Amino acid sequence: MFEKFFKTNANQQEEVDLDENKIPTHIAIIMDGNGRWAQKRHLPRVAGHKQGMETVKEITKAASKLGVKVLTLYAFSTENWKRPAAEVNFLMDLPSKFFDTFVPELVENNVKVNVMGYVDQLPPKTRQAVFDAIEDTKECDGMILNFALNYGGQAEIVSAMQAIAEKVKAGALQPEDIDEQTISQHLMTNTLAPYANPELLIRTSGEERISNFLLWQIAYSELVFTDVLWPDYAPANLAEDIYQFQKRNRRFGGLNKEEEK
Ligand code: IPE
Ligand code: IPE
Ligand code: MG
Repeated sequence: MFEKFFKTNANQQEEVDLDENKIPTHIAIIMDGNGRWAQKRHLPRVAGHKQGMETVKEITKAASKLGVKVLTLYAFSTENWKRPAAEVNFLMDLPSKFFDTFVPELVENNVKVNVMGYVDQLPPKTRQAVFDAIEDTKECDGMILNFALNYGGQAEIVSAMQAIAEKVKAGALQPEDIDEQTISQHLMTNTLAPYANPELLIRTSGEERISNFLLWQIAYSELVFTDVLWPDYAPANLAEDIYQFQKRNRRFGGLNKEEEK
């Protein structure tokens, strides 16, 4: 279904082939534009969040079918508490609504749920919904659906530094032995190894910023910004963004073989 898809631009459709051997192992998505989607329809912002939840279901299934190993979705940032209480409350109720209806399909698709973020600060009901979903999908060994919930990249680095400093203080670690690997191992993505770092980072809604998402982990990620608002984001859009990824020349600071000549 995804080997060929139709790319729509300027009213013309173009068939594009996806290379099955170059599917990004870890895709991270900044799901943005729910509020604007709703406002365009003269609906309350939360209607966009509700519709966005349906997109999460479709994109999860599509990514899993494509053979993605880890799909990380930015669902709530450490800065999103600044929003009006009613919107925050609505967002905090979404995980239970989402998992109540979607866990059987996750199991059917062999998808395992993981959550990264400051889960302890979530309301008990939200926390419980998340823990139940993790428990219910723990035997699945296909794609990992990793929700970033109350996650912030800077806070994550602060926590990692604190944990490392404790080890140094206790004499268990020497400062000169701290390297990139030490830091990676203390980040919340550590459990996703060997796919801790996203190969592809997508942001929807036309905004071109990182908004405190995976700061350390995106050092060499390919970034794709699309104007599509998250509630409108369809499997064909995902395929199109993966196609963009497949066209990139990833050098990691070096040169590719054909460039060395
Ligand atoms: C993304 O959509 C969802 C969250 C941040 C929770 P927004 O709510 O940010 O939508 P816009 O950016 O206001 O359109
Ligand atoms: C980033 O989107 C956070 C999530 C998608 C969860 P925001 O909408 O919060 O980001 P800013 O405020 O536009 O940078
Ligand atoms: Mg936004």
